[in-house]
Amino acid sequence: MNKRSVLLLLACTTVSVYAQKGKKTSTTIKPKSEFVTELMGKMTVDEKIAQLVQFTADGTITGPKSGTNWVDEIKKGNVGSILNATGVDYTRKIQKMNLESSRLKIPILFGYDVIHGYKTIFPITLGETASWDLEVARISSEVAAAEAAASGVHWTFAPMVDISRDPRWGRVSEGAGEDTYLGSKMAFARVMGFQGKNLHDLNTILACTKHFAAYGAAEAGRDYNTVDMSERLLREVYLPPFKATVDAGSATFMASFNEIAGVPSTGNKWLMNDILKGEWGFKGFVVTDYTGMNEMIAHGYAKDEQHAGELSLNAGIDMDMVGAIYLKYTKKNLEEGKVTMAQVDDACRRILEAKYDLGLFEDPYRYSDAKREKTTIYKKEYLDAALAAANKSMVLLKNSNNVLPLKQTQKVAFVGPLVSDEYNIIGSWAASGDRYGYAVSVQEGVNKLVTDKNKVSFTKGVEIKDTKRDGIQAAINAAKNADVIVAVMGEFENQTGEAASQVNIDLPGIQKEFLAELKKLGKPVVLVLLNGRPLTLSWENENMDAILEAWYPGTMGGDAIAQTLYGVSNPSGKLPMTFPRSVGQVPIYYNHKNTGRPYLGASDPEQKYKSRYTDSDNSPLYPFGYGLSYSDFQYSNLILSTQKLSANGKITVSVDVKNAGAYDGEEVVQLYVRDLVGSVTRPVRELKGFNKLLIKKGETKTVTFEITPDDLRFYNIDMKFVAEPGDFEIYVGGSSDATLKNTFELVK
Ligand code: GLC
Repeated sequence: MNKRSVLLLLACTTVSVYAQKGKKTSTTIKPKSEFVTELMGKMTVDEKIAQLVQFTADGTITGPKSGTNWVDEIKKGNVGSILNATGVDYTRKIQKMNLESSRLKIPILFGYDVIHGYKTIFPITLGETASWDLEVARISSEVAAAEAAASGVHWTFAPMVDISRDPRWGRVSEGAGEDTYLGSKMAFARVMGFQGKNLHDLNTILACTKHFAAYGAAEAGRDYNTVDMSERLLREVYLPPFKATVDAGSATFMASFNEIAGVPSTGNKWLMNDILKGEWGFKGFVVTDYTGMNEMIAHGYAKDEQHAGELSLNAGIDMDMVGAIYLKYTKKNLEEGKVTMAQVDDACRRILEAKYDLGLFEDPYRYSDAKREKTTIYKKEYLDAALAAANKSMVLLKNSNNVLPLKQTQKVAFVGPLVSDEYNIIGSWAASGDRYGYAVSVQEGVNKLVTDKNKVSFTKGVEIKDTKRDGIQAAINAAKNADVIVAVMGEFENQTGEAASQVNIDLPGIQKEFLAELKKLGKPVVLVLLNGRPLTLSWENENMDAILEAWYPGTMGGDAIAQTLYGVSNPSGKLPMTFPRSVGQVPIYYNHKNTGRPYLGASDPEQKYKSRYTDSDNSPLYPFGYGLSYSDFQYSNLILSTQKLSANGKITVSVDVKNAGAYDGEEVVQLYVRDLVGSVTRPVRELKGFNKLLIKKGETKTVTFEITPDDLRFYNIDMKFVAEPGDFEIYVGGSSDATLKNTFELVK
């Protein structure tokens, strides 16, 4: 046996010993760089290319059917990662099959979409963002990671950090809404939750920041559609949440399907190599989205699959999700000099280093432990955390005459298509969450809370989309005998999420007609919404006595809704995204530009030649940052420590917030800044700080913020990220339409 074979045999023995021993001791594995360098020194070109290859198992379908026989490819040693395989048994079986065919025993990496929970499902991310509570976001991701990691999953394709200003786009449900500042804070918190302090810990998994970039700006809100914007808008609004995840140490990124200004992200060298890996110094690896590489042919950017592979590797894409292009064409591209071995080595190294960080070279099965899976899933502390998150995500949009909270002495008729739903309540992208027999429906939540069951009734009346009317009379009959009617309505969970864009964002079906029938009974009607996007609710806002936005609140959703309706929990959520009056206003968002002819509303002396509609207000129905409470928060004394901010100075902003209501409650105090004049036009206001705090009834708290010149930076006319001297306004309140104002000057 020659020297090389002896070395190979030794290397295999050494690595496999780690696998069998299943524990990491300081003497058994070398430092990462040394270990990976040594391993790569033994790998053939084919073995390196295999690391760049990911196929989908058949656990969950998350894209078009792929023609690849992934099992065969694993047996040929051609696969570095598998997505959509979960559970200890399944992942253990696949890993074993892989190790038996991998000459150097290189473990497979298991990826899965764990967006807002793995088994214990938290509110959809848009709803969780409505909590404006960064600890809620971190804990939600931490719990998701713990359950997923106990079920053999190494890597989640989350957080999704796409800013979006368009509720027609179904994927707004997966993100943090329209605001860059809030979205960046949430993105950072979610990565910290998924990855914890050490990826070697068994309850942490690789994060994957997606979809890089600007996927949420798809024209007309149509999924996968064209994106075209200035570099300034891209860098100011859409990129910061991605950068925040690099600062948080996100281990991986996912390229977006869309093009930006004619270049699909999967082949965008400027985005991947120059910005992500260059400017931001990202050391992890980039995976395409599902067949995103192949889709550059349809984009008209690649002439064939080999060309798509060449463009991707040259752009800085490290792993090919399901496309099979890197597997089929990388060697040919190497031979033809279209890509370099250095590029293949760099991609391979990044992926191997991630596997090393997870401890997979010490024990490829360390995440697939049946006992641990059993004791981890659905832990009570996780369900409690999901309930707390759901309660904090509720947004009270209307509450005339304090019809809420309900009293247990009242007779309440619960109606609507989602009144006993436990399927849609956990929303889309609900990973391995149980849709039958586990989640708490509104009916279950109310029955758990209300002692006298004769006080409540539950009748659907209508379906979500179906227009059959034969159930209405029974619901009307139940409502006739009630003091209050609560209608639980909304969308199917699959009306938002991927490939779920809509031109109509009203309540679907005949739900609104049913509400009109109920209103005729002359009793207070409370509308509870289960939905994944902002809806157009102008009629409902006019005609309902109260409206509670519950999003898809997750496994414990019914408990949270019941506790909120009956005042056990005081709603404290604030909208992370604008609700338009009409879909014709979209895109509509709070941090818009002023234009040269801003319309000042009915009081404007010029009613015609202004930037306005002739058939609608410009204003939204409910603005970004808006949400009511059972408390009554009053703002006063907005004081600045100085009216002049020097280049290296700071301003301390203080404001008094009084809870003049009868309930203790949490308020999200928001600080907005307006830069009045710039070398380019500036938004009418931008969120620069928020603080969610408990204020007891009758109590006044003074809340403070700090503003420094760094907070005022933007990309000026020369694309320099700077703050420009001049006059600024500050607004503080419980919504983006806060009126309490002060001013300051930034001096040279
Ligand atoms: C899908 C989605 C992406 C997801 C991936 C894997 O197409 O766009 O968000 O992570 O495929 O399921």
